[in-house]
Amino acid sequence: MAIAYSNGTFIDLDEKVIPIDERGHQFGDGVYEVIRVYDGKPFMLKEHIERLIQSGKAIKLKIDENVETYEELIQEGISRSGLRNCDVYLQITRGIAPRNHLFPNAPVSITMTVKPAKEMPKENRENGVRAIFHPDERWAKCFIKSLNLLPNILAKQEAFEKGCFEAIMHKEGYVTEGTSSNVFIVKDGAIYTTPLTENILPGITRIAVKQLVNRLNIPFVEKNVTTTELLKADEVFITSTTAEVLPVVEVEGNTIGSGKVGAVTSTLYAAFQQVAKGETIHERH
Ligand code: PDD
Repeated sequence: MAIAYSNGTFIDLDEKVIPIDERGHQFGDGVYEVIRVYDGKPFMLKEHIERLIQSGKAIKLKIDENVETYEELIQEGISRSGLRNCDVYLQITRGIAPRNHLFPNAPVSITMTVKPAKEMPKENRENGVRAIFHPDERWAKCFIKSLNLLPNILAKQEAFEKGCFEAIMHKEGYVTEGTSSNVFIVKDGAIYTTPLTENILPGITRIAVKQLVNRLNIPFVEKNVTTTELLKADEVFITSTTAEVLPVVEVEGNTIGSGKVGAVTSTLYAAFQQVAKGETIHERH
């Protein structure tokens, strides 16, 4: 059963607990993580918690920097939910205090939900999805997983209204990332993706993909890709905790490669599934 947690107490999902004067609610003054649980086991949990702590430090949140604190909370949430395949959403804000832009003298506010995993429609996996291009209108610190997602949701909504799954954002002609995903292209057998800078979120699925391609002996290049290069790619795929490895077959009405799910993307998705289930990958000889 889906459950929630708010500052020390496990509660029902629909219980109303957040006061009006809460900074996540009023300012988006906080950070968050989304973690996928496969068969009772949170995937790359340490990496998610480490990123949460980094995000918190980057916005000067007074957070507990102990990885185990969050590990225990998340594990308890999962076990109380009784769910085997679920999504954990964990949020830390600058706390509850009368509205004032200056930092309050208040403890941080920690909330969490554990819900059944949002399954990707089968046709998206089998046929791939469509995407639009959208200018990256976000701020200069996109490496922080901040609650401020207005540019992301506006671009995602525009994609949806155009019958697309994702908006691929770009800055000065170069692809940055998706509204809630990292973007990769495949060209002549090699994979290219945006290097990690302050302009993008260091995706945890991106780390998993990097490890997988290494084991599968697929060349992997971290290099800025132009929107033109993306349209000329053999394959395009996006990654995220919830989308995993998802093929993109059309961008701005342009067919990518054959218009079908490519071989490299399929191989990677299969390998990812194995890792998520805790199986070992067969090395390519
Ligand atoms: N979003 N880039 C952005 C802007 C994101 O919001 C996300 C994830 C990613 C991929 O990161 P990861 O592989 O760690 O999930 C990249 C989550 C899923 C969300 O906001 O729901």
